[in-house]
Amino acid sequence: MLEVNHLSISFLQYEKGLKQQQLKVIKDLSVSVHSGEILAVVGSSGSGKSLLAHAILGILPTNATTEGTIYFDGVKLTPEKKEEFRGKEISFVPQSVNFLDPLMRVGTQVRNAARGASTSAQRKAFERLRLAKDVEQKFPFQLSGGMARRVLASTAMVSGAKLIIADEPTPGMDPTVIKEALKYFRELADSGCTVLMITHDIGAALEIADKIAVFYAGTTVESAMVNDFSGDGRLLRHPYSKALWRALPQNDFLPIPGSQPLPYANLPGCLFEPRCAFATTECRQDEPKPREIRNGIVRCIHAT
Ligand SMILES: Nc1ncnc2c1ncn2[C@@H]1O[C@H](COP(=O)(O)OP(=O)(O)OP(=O)(O)O)[C@@H](O)[C@H]1O
Ligand code: SF4
Ligand SMILES: [Mg+2]
Repeated sequence: MLEVNHLSISFLQYEKGLKQQQLKVIKDLSVSVHSGEILAVVGSSGSGKSLLAHAILGILPTNATTEGTIYFDGVKLTPEKKEEFRGKEISFVPQSVNFLDPLMRVGTQVRNAARGASTSAQRKAFERLRLAKDVEQKFPFQLSGGMARRVLASTAMVSGAKLIIADEPTPGMDPTVIKEALKYFRELADSGCTVLMITHDIGAALEIADKIAVFYAGTTVESAMVNDFSGDGRLLRHPYSKALWRALPQNDFLPIPGSQPLPYANLPGCLFEPRCAFATTECRQDEPKPREIRNGIVRCIHAT
């Protein structure tokens, strides 16, 4: 099981001259996923999804400071443990294809990154994700964006890792391959893996995930079961999750007015307040604490 408790991430930044300031971009973020489960993380761009992945893996930039704790299978992930587990117990499908080594043939890369997986396992994964036989001999610059993503996804699939973190694994893939890749992740979870999948595609998340964590401005505003995303969204607990659900083309396609606050906006109360149709004066006073409601978790003082 993966458990992230009260994670905060700040970056040391230089203001004018030599003055420094700590910019808090993730605040008091908690998520948990059991083995055999897929947790999908959704939310707008810049809400902190990739930073969560990088914090679990221990690959944040050196100017980042973190608070909070992360446990995997009961083991506290210290910087040393993260390094020990990375690429072994924990496999990562990065958002950027720049994570591929430009100087190594991709077949070798996948086998090396996946703890020396066998050539036949690598070929099976390539075949399943519709990568032609000759692709394993190619270098990353010879691949299209969608092909490079399939190569990255293959690494996690043959890794034998107990925890898979996939950061936007499907953009650029065609719909048939997306379906196959999602099915592959589901099978890995069903065989006992813990999967954290970051995605913009709520439709894809709903197809394979067990739980969904909704991120907004550096924190989790709601953790819900997949079935809560249905109908007119009344089972959802947070106004942002409801708005995100209604903004989908298959629903009302209603855009959410306004934009996510920037990390240095330092809003005193609820971070969604400037955009929330249900806001009251109390919402501007303190940041809402997470509360458990109907088997989910929500950060909204008025949620029922
Ligand atoms: N190295 C950094 N220094 C300062 N701020 C950073 C750094 N990396 C990320 N941030 C900030 O942290 C916030 C969260 O970034 P993150 O990359 O996790 O967003 P995301 O949810 O993955 O977005 P996207 O959906 O676009 O991938 C953003 O406001 C971003 O600008
Ligand atoms: S706390 Fe208030 S402003 Fe924030 S989401 Fe709930 S109702 Fe809206
Ligand atoms: Mg990201």
